[in-house]
Amino acid sequence: VKRVRTVHLQRAKAAGEKFSMLTSYDVLTAGIFDRAGVDVLLVGDSLGNTVLGHDSTLPVTLDDMAVFAAAVVRGAQRPLVVVDLPFGSYEESPTQAVHSAAHIMKRTGAHAVKLEGGEALAEHVAAVVRAGIPVMGHVGFTPQSEHALGGFRIQGRGEAAEQLLRDARAVQAAGCFAVVLEMVSADAAAAVESALDIPTVGIGAGNVTTGQVLVWQDMLGLRAGTMPRFVKQYAQLAEVAGDAVSAYVADVRSGAFPAEEHSYRG
Ligand code: KIV
Ligand code: NA
Repeated sequence: VKRVRTVHLQRAKAAGEKFSMLTSYDVLTAGIFDRAGVDVLLVGDSLGNTVLGHDSTLPVTLDDMAVFAAAVVRGAQRPLVVVDLPFGSYEESPTQAVHSAAHIMKRTGAHAVKLEGGEALAEHVAAVVRAGIPVMGHVGFTPQSEHALGGFRIQGRGEAAEQLLRDARAVQAAGCFAVVLEMVSADAAAAVESALDIPTVGIGAGNVTTGQVLVWQDMLGLRAGTMPRFVKQYAQLAEVAGDAVSAYVADVRSGAFPAEEHSYRG
């Protein structure tokens, strides 16, 4: 199989085609999503919430990211694998950003990194790109800045559309091969997609972006609680797993499991 590369995502935009991105944090889901045709796997720092049980992405470390990213790379043949730089690993200086990005590339075999921030972080993006590491940008709602942004709020509405566009242009100029637009007005996202040469990847950004991304536990119904409006649930895995495990518990209690076919003799 031929590996998806950053150039293929740029060609998709030029050809008016779409691509799909989905988070993955382990070897099994990487294989399942690969075989299902997902183009880009994102080892998101959302693993802080979905895997590690934190209530934000802020506690996630570079070493956490490296462990999960290496597993995803081992499970993915075709998808491009993009790894988030976590909070505190790239904001200090362009040098720190290069150091962290290189660490991820060396330790995991991933193909690109993603970092949050627009104009203010453009120099950091440029330094990583100069080091030969492809960078995906991330603007709009940036979860690592949730406290500065005043919580989960839709970005790019009204006058803020101008700043969103400046941020997206800045990361494109800094060399990003694509940029995530998270939780922004669909109108603002459409304006960014058409103003940029690079593809945008939406999550809660309407359907005009070249790519779409979701967190896998959300779209497969593995996570409890109310989902944001932008999540479409394609399955209810928590229910399927819960019912199956209840049946196991009942079988163990009743002695129905293990049956003769699960037992060794002689
Ligand atoms: O960490 C993550 O899963 C992300 C996506 C939601 C874009 O950054
Ligand atoms: Na992220």
